[in-house]
Amino acid sequence: MAILFRSTPAATARWRPLLGALMPDHEIRYWPDIGDKAAIEYALVWHPEPGLLASLPNLKLVFGLGAGIDHLLRDPALPRHALIVRLVDPYMTHAMSEYVAWSVLRLHRQDLDYRAQQHAAVWRERDQKNAAERPVGILGFGTLGQEAGGKLKALGFDVAGWSRGAKSVAGFDIFDGAAGLDGLLARSEILVCLLPLTPETAGILNARAFARMPRGAGLVNAGRGGHLVEDDLVPALDSGQLSGAVLDVFLEEPLPAGHPFWRHKRIIVTPHVAAETHPPTAAPIIREAIRRFAAGLPVANAVDLARGY
Ligand code: NAP
Ligand code: GLV
Repeated sequence: MAILFRSTPAATARWRPLLGALMPDHEIRYWPDIGDKAAIEYALVWHPEPGLLASLPNLKLVFGLGAGIDHLLRDPALPRHALIVRLVDPYMTHAMSEYVAWSVLRLHRQDLDYRAQQHAAVWRERDQKNAAERPVGILGFGTLGQEAGGKLKALGFDVAGWSRGAKSVAGFDIFDGAAGLDGLLARSEILVCLLPLTPETAGILNARAFARMPRGAGLVNAGRGGHLVEDDLVPALDSGQLSGAVLDVFLEEPLPAGHPFWRHKRIIVTPHVAAETHPPTAAPIIREAIRRFAAGLPVANAVDLARGY
């Protein structure tokens, strides 16, 4: 039995010593040196080329090396008989909540305006609300959304979430389903997207949604680039319907050099770093998933292929 590891060369260099030390009894084959494909039963992957997983005749378990698995579902040949598991790592969850708190505070405290004033050497106080007067909405109130919501609540923000199914989480108003979306948008002076990318959520951050938000609202997208209709953002910012956007994810990554988002005064760009996979904490989680699977035990965070996340 062998394990395939397929990620970028830089990530492979970071993972290789950790996996070797943690799983000395497993044969781990690092792409492209994968040998006899029939011996591979497990795959640890990030953006594998379409068809690679389907070429492994005895594949049983695919572990995505990130929280989102949309990169796997884009492969039309994804072997659907294999169990697909996504990475849920408290280290990453914590990192995302830091990113969301940082982004929301920047928008809330008018950092874009004060930076512009500093560049122009302008000393001018701006009206400032307290966090308790700033309603924040989180699209995607799962693992990452709830942790980020907790951190924002601790800062005093008035936080609500949006999920696919009805749920209750103590201390939060939760809107759900397509019918609940407009209610969440209407109350969100800052909107944070932490959704998985599925056919239902693609393009959800669009002109229609922006028009339903309070005038001058802020946007944070740390879900996936496909959630945002990129052409709708600049007009919403230029018209003042939105006052600022913090974007970590993009349709094309790296963001192309000539992309208008780089230089727009009301957009903050980060290079998909909100919650990076952290091999030292992720590797033991993967080892445990493989151990449980091999023992016939249930494995946490299995992906529901019908739901798409
Ligand atoms: P999760 O635990 O599965 O939570 C997903 C949430 O989205 C759930 O609350 C789910 O609703 C909701 N949802 C899904 N489809 C929906 C729909 N059609 N309508 C309304 N709500 C919907 O996922 P997670 O671990 O929080 O991760 C979320 C995403 O964050 C990942 O998929 C990935 O794209 C992104 N991410 C980005 C970075 C980064 O560095 N930028 C890092 C990690 C992850 P239910 O509660 O009803 O299921
Ligand atoms: C990163 O974007 C992830 O899905 O883990």
